[in-house]
Amino acid sequence: MNNKNIYILGIESSCDDTAASVICNGRILSNVVATQKIHEQYGGVVPELASRAHQQNIVPVVDQALKQANIKKSQLNAIAFTRGPGLMGSLLVGTSFAKSLAFGLKIPLIDVNHMQAHILAHFIDEENVKKPSFPFLAMTISGGHTQIVKVDDYFDMTILGETIDDAVGEAYDKSGKILGLGYPAGPQIDKLAKLGNPKAFKFTKPKVKGLDFSFSGLKTAILYFIQKQQATNPNFVSDNLNDICASIQYTIIGILMDKLKAAVSQTGIKQIAIGGGVSANTGIRAALLSAEKKWDWHTFIPKFEFTTDNAAMIAIVGYLKFLENKFAETDITASARLKF
Ligand code: KG4
Ligand code: ZN
Repeated sequence: MNNKNIYILGIESSCDDTAASVICNGRILSNVVATQKIHEQYGGVVPELASRAHQQNIVPVVDQALKQANIKKSQLNAIAFTRGPGLMGSLLVGTSFAKSLAFGLKIPLIDVNHMQAHILAHFIDEENVKKPSFPFLAMTISGGHTQIVKVDDYFDMTILGETIDDAVGEAYDKSGKILGLGYPAGPQIDKLAKLGNPKAFKFTKPKVKGLDFSFSGLKTAILYFIQKQQATNPNFVSDNLNDICASIQYTIIGILMDKLKAAVSQTGIKQIAIGGGVSANTGIRAALLSAEKKWDWHTFIPKFEFTTDNAAMIAIVGYLKFLENKFAETDITASARLKF
């Protein structure tokens, strides 16, 4: 098998990005993402609009991925798709498309768990990029999830802790909404925080047992704090936007790092990989790099293009499963609450 080229098409449609990617033996040949702008005006993803946009985007996105990879459909060895977790309507578009294409081409279909893919994106073959070795800890931080996972092998993962309410990306997006920022607010808060004082305002961190997280209290604390300040200064937000963002970011990064430190001391594992949209955050990246020096951790931080939803991460899982003959049955269905 080693001297044969294995081409995998990955398809991702779990939320509001329609994406397709072709990889050959673990190396990316193309990685196309169509981000749906329609949701910005609503301050969050509208599921029905997301499924409709996926339907419009999926054919051109797959077509472009094949063209950029410079291969024909007939050269594909398998089709990998996101089975879940995610929005049911969105997942159905990618699932149905992948099933029909695999059936038409008479090639295997491979189902992929979106959260596992955020972790296994670290195994995409790239020049000068080191891969984690097993076991390692993965912290997946996105708009839908916040988890710390012990990874013993590609498909042997155990969730050690997760959020009991909002995901960390939601904490960013909901705080941004309170501040009048557009959706998604995470990248904007990150940018505004750079020019602010992280200790200007203090928000208490939640007390949650073990390695679980909670972010809904923080959002409420920010809301009440802003309302109180606005009673005496209606321009409080615009007068202090950088300091507010820096303080929110400081609190969130503190919560994430406290739990990671606890996970390291609980497991003795010092290899840490991050993934998911929030892993693009400059604050968490800086905190991990300083932990690397301070506590001798080995950290794995994905390239920006692999942080938010993409299909290269789906294709790499497809490739790893292909090598282990882990194929899907033809009657497989999407699963909005898919677990590991
Ligand atoms: O993984 P992702 O693209 O989609 C989900 O599966 O949820 O993550 C999107 C989330 C959004 O909540 C967005 O605000 C957040 O990632 N995000 C960030 C940054 N870039 C994206 N949050 C903080 N700082 C960033 N730089
Ligand atoms: Zn994601």
